[in-house]
Amino acid sequence: MQDQQDGIDWRDGDVPVSTRFDDPYFSLEDGLAETRHVFLAGNDLPARFCCGFHIAELGFGTGLNLLAALHAWRAAGIAGRLAFTSFEAFPMAAQDMRRAQSRFADLAPVAAELAPHWTGGAQRIVLGDLDFTLVTGDARKTLKAWPHRAEAWFLDGFSPAKNPELWQPDLMQEVARHTAKGGTAATYTAAGFVRRGLEAAGFSVSRVAGYGRKRHMTRATLARGDAPTP
Ligand SMILES: C[S@@+](CC[C@H](N)C(=O)[O-])C[C@H]1O[C@@H](n2cnc3c(N)ncnc32)[C@H](O)[C@@H]1O
Repeated sequence: MQDQQDGIDWRDGDVPVSTRFDDPYFSLEDGLAETRHVFLAGNDLPARFCCGFHIAELGFGTGLNLLAALHAWRAAGIAGRLAFTSFEAFPMAAQDMRRAQSRFADLAPVAAELAPHWTGGAQRIVLGDLDFTLVTGDARKTLKAWPHRAEAWFLDGFSPAKNPELWQPDLMQEVARHTAKGGTAATYTAAGFVRRGLEAAGFSVSRVAGYGRKRHMTRATLARGDAPTP
């Protein structure tokens, strides 16, 4: 059954599909398993977690990746705060975020803890173990002005076929400029122009097994660390 509101088509109960981009916010198979495979394992997480570790993300969507990362951080027992910054042009309504997140029983405690913040339209959440920032606006503009670097990037801006703007070489240059030395990026796409853009930006890029029906995904590591401070 499908119903539609706020530019969202709901499929299979609680999987949101963007009518603007004609693409699901997460896998119709198992969004949490995909996040763990692509974005966590794809960035060697939780193994690389350490105090102050900074994840940045293109495309905040439902907040699923944030919840999965915080859940993994807590399970790993790391002292201090996980920094998580996400760039989002079209923030979802709080009730839509809650509906999408309700699909994932494992994440229910962390989802319930953060839910009041979404209702309040929070753009910054500081907890004992989390420092979250939502940067609203078109990432092609907002990332340029971001004064930080991340250890790991989640590149999650809908499929390149549906939203090519968020995968262009100049944006990949900005991702590299905002990556710490030895930092990584991961994405579910193995599209050639995305891999070439990451390579041109200074990443070493590899194509590895994707999640579910996707044969391949992309992992990238930034060896070079001599870019000027953003
Ligand atoms: C696949 S969804 C992200 C899913 C999300 N990471 C999650 O955990 O649910 C892609 C997101 O990219 C956002 N987006 C698309 N174009 C954008 C742009 N130019 N700048 C910033 N965000 C953009 C969309 O609004 C959407 O929320």
